[in-house]
Amino acid sequence: MPTPPIDPTTTSAWQALSEHASALRPDLRGWFADDPDRAQRLTLQLADLTVDLSKNLVTDETVALLARLADEVHLTDRFDAMLAGEHINVTEDRAVLHTALRRPAEAEPALVVDGQHVDDDVQAVLGEVFAFAEQVRSGEWTGVTGEPVRTVVNIGIGGSDLGPVMVYEALEPYVADDLEVRFVSNIDPTDLAQKTADLDPTTTLFIVASKTFTTLETLTNARLARQWLWDSLAAGGHLEDSDDARREAVAKHFVAVSTALDKVADFGIDPDNAFGFWDWVGGRYSVDSAIGTSLAIAIGPDAFGDLLAGFHAVDEHTRTTPVAQNVPFLMGLLNVWYVNFLDAHTHAVLPYAQQLHRFPAYLQQLTMESNGKSVRWDGTPVTTQTGEVYWGEPGTNGQHAFYQLIHQGTRLIPADFIAVANPAYPLRDGGTDVHALFLANFFAQTKALAFGKTADEVRAEGTAEAVVPARVFPGNRPTTSILAPALTPAVVGQLIALYEHITFAQGVVWGIDSFDQWGVELGKKLATEIAPAVQGDAAALATQDPSTRGLIERYLELRD
Ligand code: F6P
Repeated sequence: MPTPPIDPTTTSAWQALSEHASALRPDLRGWFADDPDRAQRLTLQLADLTVDLSKNLVTDETVALLARLADEVHLTDRFDAMLAGEHINVTEDRAVLHTALRRPAEAEPALVVDGQHVDDDVQAVLGEVFAFAEQVRSGEWTGVTGEPVRTVVNIGIGGSDLGPVMVYEALEPYVADDLEVRFVSNIDPTDLAQKTADLDPTTTLFIVASKTFTTLETLTNARLARQWLWDSLAAGGHLEDSDDARREAVAKHFVAVSTALDKVADFGIDPDNAFGFWDWVGGRYSVDSAIGTSLAIAIGPDAFGDLLAGFHAVDEHTRTTPVAQNVPFLMGLLNVWYVNFLDAHTHAVLPYAQQLHRFPAYLQQLTMESNGKSVRWDGTPVTTQTGEVYWGEPGTNGQHAFYQLIHQGTRLIPADFIAVANPAYPLRDGGTDVHALFLANFFAQTKALAFGKTADEVRAEGTAEAVVPARVFPGNRPTTSILAPALTPAVVGQLIALYEHITFAQGVVWGIDSFDQWGVELGKKLATEIAPAVQGDAAALATQDPSTRGLIERYLELRD
């Protein structure tokens, strides 16, 4: 029997936090004015990341009570249990060991879980992925005509797509000049059609990335890609009309990443061209496993190693740092504070780094697939609100779209602002450093959100009285600022691990299993059941509810 979760609402810290929240009158202007050390005290270093928590709606008492809550729900014990390979993914009876993927080769003592020598297995697969990446990068790996690979197409969805594509975009300056990676995820055939439209099949390598190797979208796209390969090779006179030739084409132009290597073989991909991982790596936690093969090719093994080291640095910080200075745990606890005590429903992530433009989308799966739950890990209902809606877009684009609501709307929206000091492209506009101008916005926005603008300040600008209310900024809008030296592989690893452990901390407080995702199953099953009706099967159509039947009938009428 798993250890039952502790109901956070029964802890003394929860009671104290409720009273504290009722009494609290957020006053960031006053708090900063009265406490010259506030910024310094609440700014922490997490590996390369400088994390300023001081513009959050917290006092020292809030932080102390949140740390007490962490203690009462045994947050650090559960983190240690995860690192040790206990089956904290209770509903699937699995260990949760993404942290093992980035342990250094020489880590001591060796990690053995359920009889598996985890470190040895991780290093063995990493070695295979790196060797393959070198073969592709050096041109040693060739297609059917002897041409080296120029384009890698990663076919996957969810965690088998979002992590690789997000990191690829983030580390674009590290990508080898003569290589490009494209990502196909959607079963909308437009995705594959557009991504292959201008490709030369002789220089294209497909990576079919799927933990389960059963995902409808990925297997459908993989079959479409295989057909595209055969057709376009044949059209160019590069493929004989024989099964052997087609098999050879797949062997040279397809590799796979999966935990289900038997299913990879069934698809027709040589198991020698497949990279494995394990059921203790959740899909949304898998970018640092063989799922990152497209990245290892694009940025090379050294940079991929730096990425892993970045993850590990944050794992170590989280493992060894007391809660009151533990950045991922504190940020997770702050989220609990906002969701459960200050009624926040969403959380914005606003990267002031164009290369991080897919980071909010990546975090949506990480956080919402992990913590969007209504039952706890023992099957009992949760006792309080859980996962908030994550969303965001890069600055400054968002400033000209939705920031109005964050500044002056009625809802409390905690926001994380992320920036790097040194851009990959340090362009100048005449005498102006454009990136510095960009970051002026990063600094200005959190300042405006925290301190606002009073009616008297608006009046002092000569504003007509009738318009004064519309131009007041209430302030006390909480933000966390994260500043890194540059968007290096290590920094990207640190950012991902930071949010993994933020998500973990929230899940532990709420007593939920952050590592299952049963909520995605029903829709998948119904899509399979509905498919015959959508193809015009009258009997299947008749079994649908009136709304669904009506929609499908209308679709069938509209279809050419
Ligand atoms: O349906 C959700 C999900 O299972 C995610 O958790 C996962 O990342 C995604 O589908 C893809 O799964 P797979 O890697 O097995 O194809």
